[in-house]
Amino acid sequence: NAVTPSTPSKAENGAPAEITLDEFEDLSVLSKNDDSTHFTIFGYARSKMTDAELRHMVSKTLTCRIDKRENCSEKMEEFLKRCFYHSGQYDSEEHFMDLDKKLKQHEGSRVSNRLFYLSIPPNIFLDVVKCASKSASSVNGWTRVIVEKPFGRDSESSAALTRGLKQYLVEDQIFRIDHYLGKELVENLSVLRFSNLVFEPLWSRQYIRNVQLIFSEDFGTEGRGGYFDGYGIIRDIMQNHLLQILALFAMETPISLEAEDIRNEKVKVLRSMKPLQLEDVVIGQYKSHTKGGMTYPGYTDDKTVPKDSVTPTFAAAALFINNARWDGVPFLMKAGKALHTKRAEIRVQFRHVPGNLYKGSFGTDLDRATNELVIRVQPDEAIYLKINNKIPGLGMRLDRSNLNLHYAARYSKEIPDAYERLLLDAIEGERRLFIRSDELDAAWSLFTPLLKELEEKRIAPELYPYGSRGPVGAHYLAAKYNVRWGDLSAEHYKA
Ligand code: BG6
Repeated sequence: NAVTPSTPSKAENGAPAEITLDEFEDLSVLSKNDDSTHFTIFGYARSKMTDAELRHMVSKTLTCRIDKRENCSEKMEEFLKRCFYHSGQYDSEEHFMDLDKKLKQHEGSRVSNRLFYLSIPPNIFLDVVKCASKSASSVNGWTRVIVEKPFGRDSESSAALTRGLKQYLVEDQIFRIDHYLGKELVENLSVLRFSNLVFEPLWSRQYIRNVQLIFSEDFGTEGRGGYFDGYGIIRDIMQNHLLQILALFAMETPISLEAEDIRNEKVKVLRSMKPLQLEDVVIGQYKSHTKGGMTYPGYTDDKTVPKDSVTPTFAAAALFINNARWDGVPFLMKAGKALHTKRAEIRVQFRHVPGNLYKGSFGTDLDRATNELVIRVQPDEAIYLKINNKIPGLGMRLDRSNLNLHYAARYSKEIPDAYERLLLDAIEGERRLFIRSDELDAAWSLFTPLLKELEEKRIAPELYPYGSRGPVGAHYLAAKYNVRWGDLSAEHYKA
């Protein structure tokens, strides 16, 4: 999709952008000129479609977040009028020239900036980038490209893709999107840590016992089995979303909030990680399950998935960072599809209080007395800290309570979608939340040997029923490092 935005932007040449939008699972272009009245979106794909049909398609999911006093339907109409469609082949420079002509008609004599958003299968990335850069780049403004994962399947294919992209683009033009970085609570991680005295001093092996990064979905790969089977959950979620959160969580204080300073610190974390061993990983695959008269399909029941597939739909891993701050602290990751709940969270379990005067009050289970900070990324965003507290009354009984920052209760504002933030950042040239190529290399270096070993040995995943809490192997993995998954504690279910 190509988009041509026309709100004033922080573009490097001081000029604004234009975007064009393509078929939704395909390409779009945003084109932006120097004032917000000249912002257009072009869809570009092979299917034939009229502008009206595209607008109708967009209107089905378009929402409006404005002051209640404003007229939402008018705003939406105005937006839809800026959406256009152009049908063409992905590898045809000629068709991209036609797109260029259409974009120019909208841009007129103004400075144009163009943002190409490639939500397309990776095997056509290079064709599109080649054609777009040769035949549809802006001549007097900037041209940028947003690429969606998968950025390859391993170190080699990712490096080949980067080399290919760099034949036509410089690194600064490439915006590799990881939409988890655009989630409100992930962005807030640095604010929480670096602007509150009570957190940063505790942010190390001295006080933190383990960190858990948990992703679960309560639905399977329904409809996406074809794509998913070639990748699996480790590539789909861990190597990018969870690892990015880990890097942000664990990085040293950056020199400034500038993109390069932050990305320099993140890449150091990734490059300090201990190689991942097979014995520190558990994989699972969901199987069919019948509950309450309903039968839920197993992963291999999907027609697009081979019957003997050993692709993991669940994985848990223990990772370590070999640096002074985090030496020996397990970072436990867990990601799975078709589990009992949909949730993404970061759980930080602190060490026990040395010589705790109230130790007796917790019986033998000292874990119960451990402080835990939970950052619930979704759903129902919240940050809460589990503390020990005296139950009011004449006796001395302790209770575990939460200091709770519940976003819905605290902020009346709707939380923007991750993509809203990231698209705007790309228009404004803000690279902080996009992945730099050295970060990507480091992320693949960590996971590639493990992925190769799993695939070469065809290691069979542990089967778990659809809708369950996942394979029991994940508990043993955590127990090996003296950890209990915070999301599975009995207390958690009560809360
Ligand atoms: C995508 C994965 O990157 O993230 C999907 O490819 C997953 O498999 C999705 O479902 C989850 O994103 P969100 O924002 O819905 O949690």
